[in-house]
Amino acid sequence: MSDAGFRTVKASQVILKELMVPSYANFGGKVHGGVILSLMDKIAYTCAASHCKGYSVTASVDSVDFMNPVEVGDLLTLYASVNYVGSSSMEVGIKVESENFREGTVKHTNTSYFTMVALNEETRKPVKVAGLLLEDEDEIRRFVMGKLRKKLRRAHQQEIDDIGAALKIGQAMVELEGENCCYPGVMHLPL
Ligand SMILES: CC(C)(COP(=O)(O)OP(=O)(O)OC[C@H]1O[C@@H](n2cnc3c(N)ncnc32)[C@H](O)[C@@H]1OP(=O)(O)O)[C@@H](O)C(=O)NCCC(=O)NCCS
Repeated sequence: MSDAGFRTVKASQVILKELMVPSYANFGGKVHGGVILSLMDKIAYTCAASHCKGYSVTASVDSVDFMNPVEVGDLLTLYASVNYVGSSSMEVGIKVESENFREGTVKHTNTSYFTMVALNEETRKPVKVAGLLLEDEDEIRRFVMGKLRKKLRRAHQQEIDDIGAALKIGQAMVELEGENCCYPGVMHLPL
């Protein structure tokens, strides 16, 4: 049981709408991915702050795959919800949709998960957050999936760190074979 109490998922859910104006466009006329990422970070913070009633930082962002381009003139809607909380971390799930009024279409742009960690503003140390009061089957499922993603994230990071630490230059050169790169230097590398 959390000694910071419990709060419902709904209490911190956030919806953010933003019109995609011409200054958001890249040279190809589509909206910069970075604009969307910035809005996602903003809504993740708002959602996490609403849950923990305090300060938090973005600890990690899961992969963000843009499934559809966003056009200037589209209305972007971001939905954010706390899926899972640990001791000081909160996983915020974010879904982004873009609406084109002329065509009357709504497209799913992307979905991602942000891990926010509540900090004491003075000490900058992680602090305990309220638990989640789950109210239906969807919330239970999202909580368990968030818990699983936390475990997989750690394992994945550990695996990459281990591979990187063990990688010798000789093995690295073998991995280069058939890749789209070249190394014109003279080599005297130990295998
Ligand atoms: C995130 C941060 C506070 C973690 O600090 P730490 O001393 O490693 O904290 P701990 O190891 O005690 O972990 C605290 C919590 O953060 C989580 N966490 C730590 N690093 C994480 C990461 N990279 N990804 C996801 N979660 C992470 C832990 O799982 C733990 O969760 P729990 O309390 O719910 O179990 C610290 O790395 C930090 O301040 N990073 C910079 C964040 C920042 O400035 N973001 C904005 C960038 S502009």
